Amino acid sequence: MSSRTPFQPGRQQYRRDFLKFLAGSPLLTSFSAFTQEIEETLGERLTNPDQVINVFEMEAVAREKVAPAHFGYLISGVDSDTTLRANREGYTRFQILPRRLVDVSGPTDMSVNVLGAEARSPIFLSPVGSTGGFHSDADVGVARAAAAKNHHMILSTQASSPIEEVIEARDAPIWFQLYSTNRWEYTEALLRRAEAAGCTAVCLTVDLPGGRNTETSAVLAREDDRFCEECHYGEAKPIFDGLDMQGVGLVDSSLTWEVIGRMKEVTDMKVIIKGIEVGADAALAVQYGADGIILSNHGARATDTGRGTIECLPEVISAVNGRIPVIVDGGIRRGTDVYKALALGASAVGIGRPYCWGLGAFGQAGVERVLDLLYRELAITMRGSGTPSIAHITPDYVQDAGYRVPRGTLGRELI
Ligand code: GLV
Repeated sequence: MSSRTPFQPGRQQYRRDFLKFLAGSPLLTSFSAFTQEIEETLGERLTNPDQVINVFEMEAVAREKVAPAHFGYLISGVDSDTTLRANREGYTRFQILPRRLVDVSGPTDMSVNVLGAEARSPIFLSPVGSTGGFHSDADVGVARAAAAKNHHMILSTQASSPIEEVIEARDAPIWFQLYSTNRWEYTEALLRRAEAAGCTAVCLTVDLPGGRNTETSAVLAREDDRFCEECHYGEAKPIFDGLDMQGVGLVDSSLTWEVIGRMKEVTDMKVIIKGIEVGADAALAVQYGADGIILSNHGARATDTGRGTIECLPEVISAVNGRIPVIVDGGIRRGTDVYKALALGASAVGIGRPYCWGLGAFGQAGVERVLDLLYRELAITMRGSGTPSIAHITPDYVQDAGYRVPRGTLGRELI
C-alpha cells in the first residue's frame, strides 16, 4: 500500500473511533464499559509478546499497531458478519466430556501426519493474503515462526512474500493455496511454480465464485486515506512474477468438480479442496478424487448467514467416512476449540486471524507467541480430559448441546 498519509501507530482518535464502531456494530451485542476501558489501553501496555496471555489480547495489540484499512481487511467478515459470529459461537455448542484418573504424566503427544505433512501440533497455519500489510516480516516471518515451533503452513496465492523464500524460511514442505485464474494456462503456471518450489499439496479454494461484500473492511478503510491498489490487486503479488496478468482474474466462476482431475493431470501434488461446508459436497470431493478437504467458509468471508464451520464438521466427517483427511478452520481461538474439532473427527485445524494478530503485533515473535499459547492451551485440555495423545481424542470426549452461546457473553473476546 503506497502512503499518502502515513499511519501513526497508537493514534488516539482512530482507537476511539474504532471502539465506538465496535460498540455500535453487530459484531458485538454487549460491550461493557469496563471491558472497553481495559481494551482501550491493552495494546499500549503489552509491549512484549511474552506479556500476552491469549489470542484476544494479541488482537488488541495488533489493532493498536496495524493500519486501520489493513486491520479492517483482516477482521472483516461479509455483510453483517453473521457467519463470522457463527464460526466463533459454534464452538459453544460443543462441550468437552473429560475423563478422570487417566495417567497423563508422560509427554503430551500432539504430533500429526496429514497427507505426509508432519508437524508437532495439529494446528496448521491457514492461508492469508497480503500479510505484508500487517508487518514487514510478512509470510517469511510467519514461515520462520512455523519452523521454530514446527507447525504446518499453507501459503496463500495472495502471499506478500515469494513462495521460494517462504519454503526456505520454513525449511520443510508447505502447501499452496490456489485461486484458479480465469485462464487455465495461468492456473497451470501457478501449479508448476508451487510444485517446483517444493509444495507437496495444493489447496484449491472453491468458496468464492462470485464476489463478496466485505463491509467491515470498507468501514475501517474509511479511517485510512491511502491508495490500496498496490496491495490488493492480484497482479502485484510475487506468485505472478513473470506472468502478464493484464485482464486475468483470480476467479474462475465456471469451475466444476472436473477441476480435480484437470489439476491432477498437471501436478503430482496432493489436491485438497478448500471451502467445503456441506456433507454432499464432501462426498463429491471424495468421488472426484480429492486427497483431502478443508472445511472452511473462508474465515466467514464468503457467504453470510452460513453455519459455523464446527457445526458443519459432523456432517462432513460422516460423508467422508474416513476416506480422506478433513481439516477445519474458522473461529478457532482456544486450545479447547482445537480439541473439540479433533474430537469431532478433524485430522487437523487451521488458524488464520490469530497468527496474523501475532504478526501485526510483534512480527515473527508475535506469531511464535500465538503458536505457543494455543499449543499450551491444547496440551492442558488434552491432559485435563485424560487424552495424552491425538489418537486418544475421539467423539466420546465431546457432546453437542444443540444451542449456541451468543458472542457478546464470551468473556474476554472482543471480536
Ligand atoms: C483472501 O483470501 C481474503 O479473504 O481476502
